[in-house]
Amino acid sequence: MPDEASADLSHIAIIMDGNGRWAKQRGLPRQIGHERGVEALRRVVEACRDIGLQYLTVFSFSSENWKRPASEVSALFGLLRLYVKQDLARLKADGVRVQILGKRKGLPDDILKLLDLAVSETSGNSRFTLNIAFNYGAREEIVSACKGLARQVEAGEITSDDITEDLFAGSLWGQGIPDPELLIRTSGEYRISNFLLWQIAYTELVFMDVLWPDFSEGHLESAIQSYRDRDRRYGGLSVDETSS
Ligand code: IPE
Ligand code: IPE
Ligand code: MG
Repeated sequence: MPDEASADLSHIAIIMDGNGRWAKQRGLPRQIGHERGVEALRRVVEACRDIGLQYLTVFSFSSENWKRPASEVSALFGLLRLYVKQDLARLKADGVRVQILGKRKGLPDDILKLLDLAVSETSGNSRFTLNIAFNYGAREEIVSACKGLARQVEAGEITSDDITEDLFAGSLWGQGIPDPELLIRTSGEYRISNFLLWQIAYTELVFMDVLWPDFSEGHLESAIQSYRDRDRRYGGLSVDETSS
C-alpha cells in the first residue's frame, strides 16, 4: 500500500456490492455476506485513513433497496446498528469524522438516533471523513436541492439567475465535500445504481470483479493505481499535447 494518497486524490467513493452473491457461492444466508461486508468496510476505512485520504463515501443502503424483502431490509438495519455500536468509539479515537448522506424520512427512530450519535460524537475530528450513504438516492438528492432553491426563490432570498453550479452543489446533502476523484464499484456490475449522479461528472470509474466481502487493501491499491494511470483531460487536451 502506498504511504500517501497523491495530492490529487482526496476522495474515494465506493459502491460496496456483491455481499449476497458472496454468501450464495458458499451456500450461506445473505446476512452472513452482509456481515463479512462490514468487515471489509472496516479494513477499507483503516487503509484509506492510513494512506492520507481525506474522504471516503460508501454506499450502504440505497433508496431502491427498500424493494428487497422486509427481512433483508431489517438485517441491513441491524448491521448498521451493530456497526455504530461496535465501531463508534474506535472511529472517534482514530480521528474519523462520520457524516451521513441520505433521506431521514422512512428510517426507524432508533436508527436515526444512532446516525445522529455517530455524527455528533465524531464532529470534532477532521483528519478523515467517512460519509455513509444510507437511505440515499442521487435523484432524490437532486430533487431535494431543486426544491430548496425553489423555496429560496419563492421567499425572495435569491433570484433564478443566482443559481450557479456552485450554489446547486452546495444545496446537495453532502455540501462542503469535494467531488470524488475515484469511484470504485465491486461485484462486476457496470452501473451506478443512482449513486452520486451530480458529483461524479468527472470522476474516474473503476469497476472491479471482486465481491465486496473479499475486497482487500490490495484491491484498493490496484484501483488507486488504475486511477493514477488515467489521463484526466476534463474535455481539454493531455498535458503533452498542450505543450507541443
Ligand atoms: C451490497 O450487496 C449490499 C447492499 C446493497 C446493501 P448486495 O446485497 O447487493 O449483494 P448482491 O449484489 O446481491 O450480490
Ligand atoms: C447498490 O447496489 C446499492 C448499494 C451498494 C448500497 P445494489 O445491489 O442495490 O444495485 P443494483 O440493484 O445491482 O443496481
Ligand atoms: Mg447488489
